[in-house]
Amino acid sequence: MTPAPPTGRLAIFPGSFDPLTNGHVDIVLRSTQLFERVLIAVLVNADKKPLFSAAERVEIIREVFREYPNVEVDSFEGLLVDYARARRASAIVRGLRAVSDFEYEFQMALMNRHLEPTLETVFMMPAEQYTYLSSRLIKEVFSLGGEVRGLVPPVVEERMRTKQRGG
Ligand code: PNS
Repeated sequence: MTPAPPTGRLAIFPGSFDPLTNGHVDIVLRSTQLFERVLIAVLVNADKKPLFSAAERVEIIREVFREYPNVEVDSFEGLLVDYARARRASAIVRGLRAVSDFEYEFQMALMNRHLEPTLETVFMMPAEQYTYLSSRLIKEVFSLGGEVRGLVPPVVEERMRTKQRGG
């Protein structure tokens, strides 16, 4: 007998996640309170020179959420709305850290709505201690020898150290 397809409302949390930060983890966990399933969708080729390949990012994020059966991780290329349609998602989730995020997020949300009017974008605020976190700053601090413990999941920190050693 073929297993029944998963049911319940699916939210897509798209991004570059190079690397995943504790701010991202916070948003995913909040999203699981609102949606039955959350799909973390890693954009392939967002950055020409990423720290981690899309395949590595998917592997790392799967490891971080391995104890959460309602959190799935995948990569995607092309338009987010096409991917969301193919996955039958109900909503896109994005994190809003500060007013400075708003303009870019507002433009993306309205463009996505123009492309697919049935797909809602839901914004969530991370816990205050993560409002200054960004993947770009994490990479910069780490590459200059700064401490990133507590800012990214331990698995991410380990993989960054391995990468730094040339692994
Ligand atoms: O973490 P990021 O880099 O801010 O995420 C941006 C992302 C991946 C959500 C955005 O670049 C995206 O959706 N890219 C896919 C291509 C697309 O649909 N572009 C039109 C968006 S309005």
